[in-house]
Amino acid sequence: MSERGNFGTKIGVILATAGSAVGLGNIWRFPYMTGQDGGAAFIIIYLVCVLILGIPGMVAEFVVGRHSGANAARAYYNIGGRKWSLLGYGGAITSMIIFGFYSVVAGWCLQYLFASTMGQLNGDVTYVQHYFKTFSSDPLKPLFWTVAFIIMTHLVVVKGVRKGIERASNILMPTLFILLFIIVVASCMLPGTKSGLEFLFKPDFSKVTRSVFLDALGQAFFSLSLGTACLCTYASYFNRQTNLVKSAVQIAGIDTLVAILAGLMIFPAAFSVGVRPDSGPSLIFITLPAVFQQAFAGMPVLGYIIGVFFYGLLVLAALTSTISMHEIGTALFYEELHLSRSKGAWIETIVCIIIGVFCSLSCGAVDITVFGKSFLNFCDFITSDILLPLGAFFTCVFVGWYVPKNIVKDQITNWGTISSRLYGIWLFVVRFICPICIGSVFLHQLGII
Ligand code: TRP
Repeated sequence: MSERGNFGTKIGVILATAGSAVGLGNIWRFPYMTGQDGGAAFIIIYLVCVLILGIPGMVAEFVVGRHSGANAARAYYNIGGRKWSLLGYGGAITSMIIFGFYSVVAGWCLQYLFASTMGQLNGDVTYVQHYFKTFSSDPLKPLFWTVAFIIMTHLVVVKGVRKGIERASNILMPTLFILLFIIVVASCMLPGTKSGLEFLFKPDFSKVTRSVFLDALGQAFFSLSLGTACLCTYASYFNRQTNLVKSAVQIAGIDTLVAILAGLMIFPAAFSVGVRPDSGPSLIFITLPAVFQQAFAGMPVLGYIIGVFFYGLLVLAALTSTISMHEIGTALFYEELHLSRSKGAWIETIVCIIIGVFCSLSCGAVDITVFGKSFLNFCDFITSDILLPLGAFFTCVFVGWYVPKNIVKDQITNWGTISSRLYGIWLFVVRFICPICIGSVFLHQLGII
C-alpha cells in the first residue's frame, strides 16, 4: 500500500472532491437537460433530488470509503463480503462507460479551445451550428481529441493522488468560478434575455412528463459523481479529521451553484441569439461562441481572451472529473490484481479509449445506434438513468441496513469527536427515504406506479 497517497490538507480534500463533482456535468449536461426537460420545473425537481437524495447518498459513500481506506471493491468487501463487493466492481464498470462518452465531449471542448485560439469560431449562430455539426461528425478530428484527452487524464493519474489531483484542483476551481460569473453577467446583458430568464425561473409544471423525474434524479447523481463508488474511492484518501457530513454539504453546494451559473450563462444568451433550448448535447457548443462575440462586441479582444480562457478551464474542469473516474478503476486494478499503479492505469485507459472511439464515431461519422439512440447517447442514458440510480440505491440500502451501526456512527461523528446531531436524521433518510424515492422514480418511469 506504500503507493497509496493521502490528501495533504483539509481544503485539498474538499477541492479535489469538488473538482470531481464540478465538470461537464454542470456546464454541458445540466443546461442541455434543463433545456430538454422544460426549464424551471426541472430545476426545482433537480434541487430537491440533490438535497434529499444526493447529499445523504454522498455521505453514505464517504462512510464506506473512509472506513476501509481501500479501493471500491475491497471497501464493500471488507464490510459486506463478496456479494456487496459487486457494487465496487459495478461502479468501476459504470465509471468506465461514463469516462468513454465524457471524453468525447471533453474532446469537443479541446477542439473549441483550439478553434477559438485560432479565431475560427467568429460568425453568426448559423455558422457556428454548421461548424459544430461538421466537426462533430468528422471521422478523425473528434477521435483525435478524445484520445488526446484520455491520455491527458492517464498522465495525471499516474503521477499519483496527492501531487496530481490536489495541486490541480487548488487553482482551477476558484478561477473557473470567477470566469463563469463574468460570463453570466455578460450573457444577461444581451438584448432579449427576458424569456431566457423566465425559462429558468418561472416553473411550468404542465411540461413535467414521466421521464423528467428520472432525468432530474440521474442528473443529480451524475453531477455529484454519485453511484459509481467514485466518492467512496476518494473518501478512502480522506484523513480522520474530515467531517463527512459537512464536506458533502459543501461539495453539493459548490456543485449546484456552478450548475445554476451555467444555466444563467446559457439560457439568456440562447434565447437572445435564437438557439432552441432543446438543442440537446450541442446546446452549449452552439450558444457560447455567440456570447463571446456578441456580448463583447465593443471589446473583441476581451471577448477573445475570455473565450479562450473559458474553454481552457472547461477542459481542466473535465479533467479533474475524469481523474476521479479513472482513479476508481486504477486503484481497483492496482490493489486487487497486484499490478503496478501504472499498469493498472493502462488497463483503465485502454478500455476507455475503445469505448470513447465508438462514442465519438457514433456522432455522425458511422451509424452506430443502440435502441434508436446514437452510441454516445445510449451510454449517457444507460449510466445516468439506470446504473447511477441503481448504484446509489444499493449503496443506501447497504449503509442503512447492513453496515454495523458502530462503524457508521464512528464515521459520521469522527469517532465521537464531533456532534452527532444529524446522525439520526441522516440514517433515517438513508434507510427509508432514499431507497423509497429512487425505487418509486424507477417504477414510475416504467409505468408501474
Ligand atoms: N460529476 C462529474 C461532472 O459533473 C462527472 C463525474 C465524475 C462522475 N466522476 C463521476 C459522474 C462518477 C458519475 C460518476 O462532470
